Amino acid sequence: MLTREFVLSFREAAPYINAFRGKTFVVAVSGETVADGHFPGLAQDINLLTTLGVRIVLVHGIRPQIDSLLGKQGIARHFHREKRITDLPTMDIVKQAVGLARHEIEATLSMGMPNSPMHGSHLRISGGNMLTAQPIGVIDGMDMQYTGQVRRIDVAAITQRLEAGDLVMLSPIGYSPTGEAFNLTMEEVATHTAIALKAEKLIFLVDGRGVISIEDKLLSTLTAQQAEELHRGGNLPNDVTLYLPYVIRATRDGVSRAHLVSSKEDGALLAELFTRGGNGTMIARDPLVRVRTATIDDIGDILGLIRPLEEQGILVKRSRELLEMEIGNYSVLEHDKRIYGCVAMHAFTDAETAELACLAVSSDHRDAGFGEALLNHVEYQARARGLASLFVLTTQTAHWFVERGFVETEPSRLPMSRQEMYNYQRRSKVFIKTL
Ligand code: ARG
Repeated sequence: MLTREFVLSFREAAPYINAFRGKTFVVAVSGETVADGHFPGLAQDINLLTTLGVRIVLVHGIRPQIDSLLGKQGIARHFHREKRITDLPTMDIVKQAVGLARHEIEATLSMGMPNSPMHGSHLRISGGNMLTAQPIGVIDGMDMQYTGQVRRIDVAAITQRLEAGDLVMLSPIGYSPTGEAFNLTMEEVATHTAIALKAEKLIFLVDGRGVISIEDKLLSTLTAQQAEELHRGGNLPNDVTLYLPYVIRATRDGVSRAHLVSSKEDGALLAELFTRGGNGTMIARDPLVRVRTATIDDIGDILGLIRPLEEQGILVKRSRELLEMEIGNYSVLEHDKRIYGCVAMHAFTDAETAELACLAVSSDHRDAGFGEALLNHVEYQARARGLASLFVLTTQTAHWFVERGFVETEPSRLPMSRQEMYNYQRRSKVFIKTL
């Protein structure tokens, strides 16, 4: 049986499948996620991503693994400013922890049981000396010893492995030119790598669903600035508090999108990546919804939006030629690079007013606030031009405009040049909004 829902979801996913092919995603998986048994589900989805041509750099953490090994060997943990002080015995433990986590992840990613989504896939995993580290040194008089920071990422080596189709796995250890190993954090490695590789995405898997507001609602999309304010406001789960500054930094340094996605909910990563609305929190460098001036290339989309409304008599018919001539008056609303709405503003030289026309939003997105966004855009433009009012002619959608501050007026109040074109047969009502 044909499942409508499946077909629609698949179509929704298609543009993302195309957009992501050949792109690099840096995915950060905490040591906790590996330790608490949530990695196998994730591994399947990561594997699926690689089969769709996404280049994956997987960075893993080892915090709980270090703590448990230290505990077993009776070695005390030392922190300064929330950073671990890595003495020589601790550094030995760090290497052991990396070994444990790394092998567990590699084994899981290599799983190809019949009847599992990974059946028949042969994912190759690369790793090695791709991170150069340096000691962070002495902080407030405290020698941090083998606690290090990223000094350089071997972009050429990583890119070469990715181009060969491998998944690159990075552990939070880096080597110095003097031949020493340093203890790094997963967050720092993932962020530096995403920036250095100019990755498309930096993804952190988190315990919850993402960034949650005080009203306990998932915040689906944030700008770097909003994320910063939320971080300053506190009250966020520990892992989100830890990751947010890195995510903000990444988006400011060229990574166009960073995501916080649940590590526990099955399929959360796929839902985040292959639906428009996502499933977690996305921190985007550029706003997702954007209204911009239309160009000739948008005519096909604009016609697609207005034709159904013309057929219902809601909009007057416009020819392609007229649209081409007046395209400079049109604006379109893009959501994630696809066009969902349009509007025109025709200014009149003989009056300090303009006509808002041809407002259309795609039928399956009428509730997304796109109409308002287009109206606001036109109002903003009209004000910027110093116009005193905006008017609109409508036969069927009067209430929408009235709810947004328009009042009915006589056709005789229209600018002269517009009155001459007034279509008495259509008997549109005229509404005006003072700016
Ligand atoms: N699937 C798209 C992407 O990966 C959009 C995701 C939107 N996510 C969100 N939490 N708002 O870029």
